[in-house]
Amino acid sequence: MELRRLEQTWCLLALLAALITRARPAPNLGLWPLPLSVEMSPRRLLLAPQQFSIDHDPSSKVSRPCNPLQDAFRRYYTYIFYDNKRLQGPAKFENGTQLQQLLVLVTHDSDCNSFPNISSDESYKLNVQGPVSFLSANSVWGALRGLETFSQLIYQDSYGAISINESSIIDSPRFPHRGILIDTSRHYLPVKRILETLDAMAFNKFNVLHWHIVDDQSFPYQSTTFPRGRYSLSHVYTQNDVQMVIEFARLRGIRVIPEFDTPGHTLSWGKGQKNLLTPCYSEEVPSGTFGPINPILNSTYSFISDFFAEISEVFPDEFMHVGGDEVDFTCWQSNPEIEAFMKSSGFEKDFKKLESFYLERLLNIVSSKKKKSIVWQDVFDNKDKLQPGTVVQVWRMEKYSDHEADVTAAGFQVILSSPWYLDYISYGQDWRNYYKVDPLDFSGSQEQKQLVIGGEACLWGEYVDGTNLTPRLWPRASAAGERLWSNENVRDLTDAYDRLTAHRCRMVRRGIAAQPLYVGYCDHQLNV
Ligand SMILES: *[C@@H]1O[C@H](CO)[C@@H](O)[C@H](O)[C@H]1NC(C)=O
Ligand SMILES: *[C@@H]1O[C@H](CO)[C@@H](O)[C@H](O)[C@H]1NC(C)=O
Ligand SMILES: *[C@@H]1O[C@H](CO)[C@@H](O)[C@H](O)[C@H]1NC(C)=O
Ligand SMILES: *[C@@H]1O[C@H](CO)[C@@H](O)[C@H](O)[C@H]1NC(C)=O
Repeated sequence: MELRRLEQTWCLLALLAALITRARPAPNLGLWPLPLSVEMSPRRLLLAPQQFSIDHDPSSKVSRPCNPLQDAFRRYYTYIFYDNKRLQGPAKFENGTQLQQLLVLVTHDSDCNSFPNISSDESYKLNVQGPVSFLSANSVWGALRGLETFSQLIYQDSYGAISINESSIIDSPRFPHRGILIDTSRHYLPVKRILETLDAMAFNKFNVLHWHIVDDQSFPYQSTTFPRGRYSLSHVYTQNDVQMVIEFARLRGIRVIPEFDTPGHTLSWGKGQKNLLTPCYSEEVPSGTFGPINPILNSTYSFISDFFAEISEVFPDEFMHVGGDEVDFTCWQSNPEIEAFMKSSGFEKDFKKLESFYLERLLNIVSSKKKKSIVWQDVFDNKDKLQPGTVVQVWRMEKYSDHEADVTAAGFQVILSSPWYLDYISYGQDWRNYYKVDPLDFSGSQEQKQLVIGGEACLWGEYVDGTNLTPRLWPRASAAGERLWSNENVRDLTDAYDRLTAHRCRMVRRGIAAQPLYVGYCDHQLNV
């Protein structure tokens, strides 16, 4: 009898609990990319704009003024209070513990004027409690990642109160190189759109902008030493523009790696530089068209050396992407001077040897400027002699995991892009395919796997300009973003869908025109 009553009471309580839960579902915060460890309590803290601040912890070891942090404190304060202002009318504040301050502690000596690099420590710990919460990180760059997470924890309750639950988060990235490739040659992208891309990258914890700045179609980079083939006088990136992009990126912990792709993909270079490109022949006379860079002239190498001296000054990153993909041999084959050079050099009819001849000299020039090279996989496949420390970007779709195995077996580091060519568009939720990938899913030793330093989502520009860059990138690139940041066991597609839907709505609130994943709506009243 007693037992039965107990059972009934328990059933009633369970039903009540279920009803309460249904009435007040835990908000889907849309944490993205998912941190390594998240512990969340049901203790809620309230935030009010006039009674909350983000500050340096007094013992923080950063040089002052610390622009990356000062700038981020302002940015995230705005995201917290103004982008969360979604309810009509005044919010009904309940009484509760307030969160008054977030103190940011950088534990290792940090020079706030330096640039992030491949070995930057992006880990952080976040301890949310009232009335003062703490974010600690070994470096400024980790603190930036932690501020993003802090802002993602904030939600509005159903009365509009800006809230955060007490919680404890420990986080660090799985891979150090997490990039987005943009292409400003096929179409010019306005600087404003590039800056917007950097903002969205920070929301997704990406840390490398791979700027494929020039190609066959145009040369919008305004060189201080050489005038080139741009689309028009206004479709250029001046030195000021470039510095603005680099600094905007730095303030978000993002590296800018420029790509000046040679010896193919260079038609636009020829417009400004005489004798740089190979004249193609047709029936033994010059046809008036041009092919790849002419590898047999000494003038080519003095030009390349001067030009790379300029750009290694302009772009501070330790790495330079030198391309080396898709070299078309037909023009070289048609040219009698090249034929004679091939004969005298003992290359027989093997144009891959001529390509190697060029690329090896190029790589030597780049390393003489104290820069490391990133090359497309073609350079490795062609068996060119690579400097130790050269990074190979794997992009061909067929059997890419075999390629990762081959490149790492040879001792070179890999950046994976094959599964993340976002310029391929199709009906449906293609983000799922990007999400399912695992960059370490190839057969190889532990040492080999450690050579995979990350990946890049690539948005080539044949069909992309300033009008559709942002919606085509986001949230599709976010899938690669989580794959590159979060633990390898974060793979649940249903959970990812729910979080990404909320994250996408947050990006929209912050002014990023991210396209929808599927049917539904962004609820600006509940935190969905
Ligand atoms: C946050 O706290 C509220 C209030 O206690 C609770 O209803 C909610 O489930 C908590 N959210 C999470 C994600 O734990
Ligand atoms: C909230 O706290 C204030 C000050 O302590 C008190 O005057 C007020 O009645 C409280 N409101 C509620 C709804 O408990
Ligand atoms: C990366 O940055 C850190 C901190 O500024 C610095 O100590 C380190 O030497 C840099 N590494 C490289 C490879 O530049
Ligand atoms: C090109 O440079 C090489 C090596 O410096 C030199 O031997 C050769 O004579 C030069 N060729 C011309 C045409 O100047």
